[in-house]
Amino acid sequence: MRKFEEIVILTGAGISAESGLSTFRDAGGLWEKHRIEDVATPEAFARDPEGVQKFYNLRRRHLDEVAPNAAHRALARLEAESDSRVTIITQNVDDLHERAGSRNVLHMHGELKKARCLECGRASRWEDDIEPTSACPACGAAGRLRPHVVWFGEIPLELDRIDRLLGACDLFVSIGTSGAVYPAAGFVSQVRALGRAHTVELNLEPSAGSHFFHEARYGPAGTIVPLFVEELLTGR
Ligand code: OAD
Repeated sequence: MRKFEEIVILTGAGISAESGLSTFRDAGGLWEKHRIEDVATPEAFARDPEGVQKFYNLRRRHLDEVAPNAAHRALARLEAESDSRVTIITQNVDDLHERAGSRNVLHMHGELKKARCLECGRASRWEDDIEPTSACPACGAAGRLRPHVVWFGEIPLELDRIDRLLGACDLFVSIGTSGAVYPAAGFVSQVRALGRAHTVELNLEPSAGSHFFHEARYGPAGTIVPLFVEELLTGR
């Protein structure tokens, strides 16, 4: 394994599956049980704010019942022990990377444990249910909070920083994502176009974009991510 200086890791729902969080597109996944148009668009929230809040309140509560798994812990170990700069770009709205100890995490699809105010635009830490009368911790406006998650039809967060990271990395690793949702699905092609970085896919099965990667390993994240991190850290 060659030495890398700038490691960028894209994660998706598959990395949290062994912690007990549902993925979206696998059998029994969230998008099989709920229609995107009912819970994950600005139009759904305008039409049925209480129904949409309930969906995210339940998902937020569920976070307290799960814990990071060996894959999250391995990435935290990589950040702590490697000489390289390690950045995680996650599509996940859970907080399992942070709870495993990762510090350098960008949540491009938002975070369940934050609420955003439609009045002042600020996102604040939020642990409990968002109620119809909940007040914004930043400006005090009541009844104006929404989940700080990116819905279909909205622009993902942190795209400028992500663009710079993709341009600078010499190792790009994609873990537990189906490659079905853009712009994240296009990151590997963006990195490949520059021709500088080695690209690796770690997933249960080949993703939609598996052919774009130089290298792939398939299996449960809790098994294959710790092995891959060990190789990176020991250079073997
Ligand atoms: P998906 O549900 O689309 O894909 C999950 C991927 O993880 C699949 O390729 C599975 O094969 C793989 N997988 C499942 N279990 C695994 C395990 N134990 N170990 C490793 N891999 C496993 O989830 P995402 O790709 O994250 O966006 O979905 C992307 C976005 O679509 C989400 O962020 C969400 C969703 O709509 C928004 O809500 C904006």
